[in-house]
Amino acid sequence: MELDLASNNIKISEDIHSWEEVSLMYNSALKQITTKIEILNEEFQEVHRYNPIEHVKARVKTPESIVKKLKRNGYESTIENMVRYINDIAGIRIICSFTSDIYRIAEMISNQKDIQVLTVKDYIMNPKKSGYRSYHMIVSLPVYLSDRIVNVKVEIQIRTVAMDFWASLEHKIQYKFEGKAPNHINSELHECAKMVADLDARMLSLNEEILAIEDGKK
Ligand code: GTP
Ligand code: MG
Repeated sequence: MELDLASNNIKISEDIHSWEEVSLMYNSALKQITTKIEILNEEFQEVHRYNPIEHVKARVKTPESIVKKLKRNGYESTIENMVRYINDIAGIRIICSFTSDIYRIAEMISNQKDIQVLTVKDYIMNPKKSGYRSYHMIVSLPVYLSDRIVNVKVEIQIRTVAMDFWASLEHKIQYKFEGKAPNHINSELHECAKMVADLDARMLSLNEEILAIEDGKK
């Protein structure tokens, strides 16, 4: 079916009124996007003979965590504010081997006709002050219900195994110190982030060299 975004059937996300509906909507969006990613991965495997995706994790933010984030940003805890201001109620994390895979996957997702990319933050080109590297997209996709279609936002984080290793430990540390880790720990983390970036670059060029040798044999 061709999707007509101007059609009256498509209601904006603010049509959601209860937590049950929020939960249903975001869980449905995650199911759809997970399936899309699985299909892309299988097709990629068929064409290029390798899996760009190592694994995928999906989660819906807990209501407690949503309320905390609304408060932090100075918004009242209403369903309308959740849907409007919290972009990561539905979150999916795609872990791959090489940095080049990240951009390939991001492009394949952006090329899907029913997915609209709302924002992109490339923390690989521009790492955060902490040293954090990852590729983030906020996308919106239609969820088809019996009587209407609702556009739902999903945060997609795409990173390499090495970036994920770093981010998991950094997150654990910041959690433990409530965001106020001692200076020497922060600078050690920053140093590790540089090593992770270097490792990613070297593994990528090693892989490219191997691929070139394989191609030469054909
Ligand atoms: P929130 O951090 O979710 O409030 O959103 P934001 O508007 O700052 O967006 P951003 O794209 O910067 O971050 C979104 C998500 O990326 C976070 O919720 C984390 O999962 C992850 N993230 C961002 N920065 C860091 C970081 O320095 N360390 C770690 N471990 N994760 C980060
Ligand atoms: Mg978040």
